[in-house]
Amino acid sequence: MSPNKKNFYITTPIYYVNDKPHIGHAYTTVACDVLARFMSMDGYNVKFLTGTDEHGQKVEQSASLKGKTPQEFTDEISQTFRKLAADLNIIADDFIRTTEERHKEAVKYLWTTLKEKGYIYLGKYAGWYAIRDETFYKEDEIKDGKAPTGAPVQWVEEPSYFFKLSAFEDRLLRYYEEHPDFIAPKSRMNEVKRFVQGGLEDLSISRTTFSWGVPVPDDPEHIVYVWLDALTNYISALGYPEETEDFRSMWPEALHIVGKDILRFHAIFWPAFLMAADLPLPKKVYAHGWWTNEGEKISKSLGNVINPYDIIETYGLDPMRYFLIRAVPFGLDGDFSKKGMVDRLNSDLANDLGNLVQRVLSFVYKHSEAKVPNKGAFQASDKEILEDAYSIVEKVRPLISENQALHKYAEVVWQLISSANRYIDKQQPWNLRKTDVHRMETVLYTLLEVIRCLALVIKPIMPGSMDKLMDLLHIPEEDRFFRALCEQYALQEGAPLSKPEGLFPRYVEEKD
Ligand code: MSP
Repeated sequence: MSPNKKNFYITTPIYYVNDKPHIGHAYTTVACDVLARFMSMDGYNVKFLTGTDEHGQKVEQSASLKGKTPQEFTDEISQTFRKLAADLNIIADDFIRTTEERHKEAVKYLWTTLKEKGYIYLGKYAGWYAIRDETFYKEDEIKDGKAPTGAPVQWVEEPSYFFKLSAFEDRLLRYYEEHPDFIAPKSRMNEVKRFVQGGLEDLSISRTTFSWGVPVPDDPEHIVYVWLDALTNYISALGYPEETEDFRSMWPEALHIVGKDILRFHAIFWPAFLMAADLPLPKKVYAHGWWTNEGEKISKSLGNVINPYDIIETYGLDPMRYFLIRAVPFGLDGDFSKKGMVDRLNSDLANDLGNLVQRVLSFVYKHSEAKVPNKGAFQASDKEILEDAYSIVEKVRPLISENQALHKYAEVVWQLISSANRYIDKQQPWNLRKTDVHRMETVLYTLLEVIRCLALVIKPIMPGSMDKLMDLLHIPEEDRFFRALCEQYALQEGAPLSKPEGLFPRYVEEKD
């Protein structure tokens, strides 16, 4: 870790291992990856955590349905999530499993701390519980015998330890006031505030009717509530309770990306646990929306769960990553439709970006001896587009580092692609070849430079294809950072170029 750089810690939720990964999991993970890669290319020390949430009744039940022990079952499914991360080309540098010793020890330590500080007491829980959501619900939340999420509920009555959540109402509200960016987007902050203003009840944080989990210290009949267990992953992965360098420097910079359905746990319970333990809070919790499939809610019972591998196989990994980022304003719900995916792939990738690159690279390859042409003297129009290309990250940076506005980042970059396409149409290098070869060279040089900048700024979204493009341009690995977006790192006249290959083939529907 470089001591002079700023730190950035980003986390995905840890995924339940009751079933195989679907597009919702892929979405959160890809969004985090784009942010992690962007910050890393922008010079931050980045730590990126993902992993699996393996305890609790839901997982225990799924294992027994498959005739497996929970350990066998979780080992197997956790592996599919690890593989998905690799197959999505994710740069996470840690993958935590809640069944690991390092994590279980941290949970016990946190429990003991909360107990010693007087925030845990023994009582009896009588109320509704939804195993699918691993959530307790109040009487007035139950409609037609179901949780607001549609999950079936059961009446539970058992001895339980409680966390004094009610003691944190004022402190939480004050914290939200003083840290208006703690929860994003803004509409979500308002939603959370309203919930807390409605009153917080103490939270049941142990269960006695099953055994798959972390036993409560000094009372092993009780199993720690799976959400208290799971949330702790964000600090156990940094070495908590040890005062590690990672914990000290990374933890206060944490950005939790979560789906809107689990915001309450991250924006109310988690900060209250941390406040109770006298630990610093993460910097921000960002809630993204949910995907539907061709306009319909995705659910197992409808049989319309989207398998990310099917999308990758049909359209390619990078087009899928691009679609997930570009198609929906980050924070809002979105619809995954075949038409939407194909339109983006054919228009934004094959036409706008792919054609630009292909036209320029193959023209240079053919008519400039496969070498970077001479720059000659730049005219105003060349300088203008180069200036736009060199300053692209300055435009995008606040969108990402302050607002996580992933879709806007893509939009702004595609404006530069449009300008480059307008520039090439106006300059017409193919005509210049007959009338003014020097000018043609300058135009091609300018375009190659713009393409180099595009490859850099698009790399967080589509790392595989942009690395391939930078390989064609012979850009060394150590120059694939945003600080290279300037003249000092510009392509050298006469430097070799590789034979171009199409980056994004058009998607044509197969006819049967
Ligand atoms: N295990 C908990 C998280 C614990 S974090 C301390 C959990 N796991 S999950 O596997 O059910 O869900 C993980 C993420 O997937 C959530 O952020 C959820 O919002 C997201 N998605 C699940 N279905 C989704 C869609 N259809 N669309 C977008 N994201 C969705 O919750």
